[in-house]
Amino acid sequence: MIDVLYQDHLAILQQRAAHLLEQHQLDAVLIHSGSTKNYFLDDYAPVFKPNPHFVHWMPFLREQPECWLLIQPASKPILFIYSPDDFWHMTASEPSDFWNQLFDIHLYTDRAAQLKQFNIAGNVALIAENPVELPQLSVKHNPEALMHALHFQRAEKTPWEQHCIRQANRIAIKGHRFTQQGFFDGLSEFELHQGYLAATAQLEKELPYSNIVGLNEHAAVLHYQHKDRTAPEQHRALLVDAGAVCHGYVADITRTVSQGHQDFDAILVAMDQAQQALTESIKPGVSFLALHQQMHQKLFSILSTAGIVKSDAGLDPSDKVAITRTFYPHGLGHLLGIQVHDIGGWQQNIKGSMSAPPEQHPFLRLTRLLTEQMVVTIEPGLYFIPLLLEQLKSTPLARHINWPLVNELTPWGGIRIEDNVCVTATGAENYTRDAFNDPIIAL
Ligand code: GLY
Ligand code: MN
Ligand code: MN
Repeated sequence: MIDVLYQDHLAILQQRAAHLLEQHQLDAVLIHSGSTKNYFLDDYAPVFKPNPHFVHWMPFLREQPECWLLIQPASKPILFIYSPDDFWHMTASEPSDFWNQLFDIHLYTDRAAQLKQFNIAGNVALIAENPVELPQLSVKHNPEALMHALHFQRAEKTPWEQHCIRQANRIAIKGHRFTQQGFFDGLSEFELHQGYLAATAQLEKELPYSNIVGLNEHAAVLHYQHKDRTAPEQHRALLVDAGAVCHGYVADITRTVSQGHQDFDAILVAMDQAQQALTESIKPGVSFLALHQQMHQKLFSILSTAGIVKSDAGLDPSDKVAITRTFYPHGLGHLLGIQVHDIGGWQQNIKGSMSAPPEQHPFLRLTRLLTEQMVVTIEPGLYFIPLLLEQLKSTPLARHINWPLVNELTPWGGIRIEDNVCVTATGAENYTRDAFNDPIIAL
């Protein structure tokens, strides 16, 4: 099945490219996979991350720097694979996979010589991180109008891309099942992280982003980056934000579990319900900003029901958002694809008009109306972040807050629940919940 899906995906990209080339008066697009660069004073380089435009076309060579793809209308894409004379590393060999027949493939050994060999008549768009010396060609490096169009189109996923993100979700939930159980077994953050890698059969370097594994107060650090080797005395809450990759497409999933405080447990259940209600209201035409604002309203009532907000007497809507933003300072979600925060979230049209979020919600990464085939995350949160709580305490709004209860719940850290959702013609497909609910995915 994946061969048909991928072949169709390539046909869609070729059709789009032919149209864009004509529109932008270009004759070809040359896409670079990327380069590696050693650390300062060292002969080791960070993990290679390919150009997402390269992955869009060629998802099967993601560990190969210095490869090139040449796209021209009405002909097979030409793939130049870099295979240097190097006995220190495994070098690329002629691929023998189902996708070979879809490309015209050449292996090459000398980078400088290859650059001189590109002989393309007419105007060429070079899509690469850095400009490249190609004096024999008429090259425009990352031409803005073309990039805008490509970035806008990337938001809607082809059936192949949807398949990959769905599969990435099915991989990631094996890890989440492990960490949820590991919390109740008293594991350390380090052990939870290692267990996640094993359960999902991923190397650390293959993760789409560094796993966030926060026990107790660490759950309140939005992008908590450490993994304590020692387990804490009490396991109150665990927030795991961790993903997986399938053919270059990522899952970005968060789950929170808790024990030991009825109020916190009840808030977690209420957050889960609110997250699901919001997800179920997704369909084409819905404004993501409106969804984010609805989540703030839901959060205000969760905080009120829990008794964290004592009364709303005299609070206008902006006061309410100032309170909820203290507990939920990030955005509801973002586009998801080759990149975890896939490009184009603020872009409103193919021409590149941008719409930044309103001042009240500066961290919202998606301001577009939802359209069919977009894949997004829905990830509301509720955290007890000392820095933000202190700021709220110094405002007149402080009198609306039940501080003793806040202090009591702060050791539980916080909650985030994050699903990956594809917008369909009439609603949404929730890849994450579907994977969790699939009994076939073994523990
Ligand atoms: N894992 C980063 C995010 O949820 O956006
Ligand atoms: Mn996440
Ligand atoms: Mn996310």
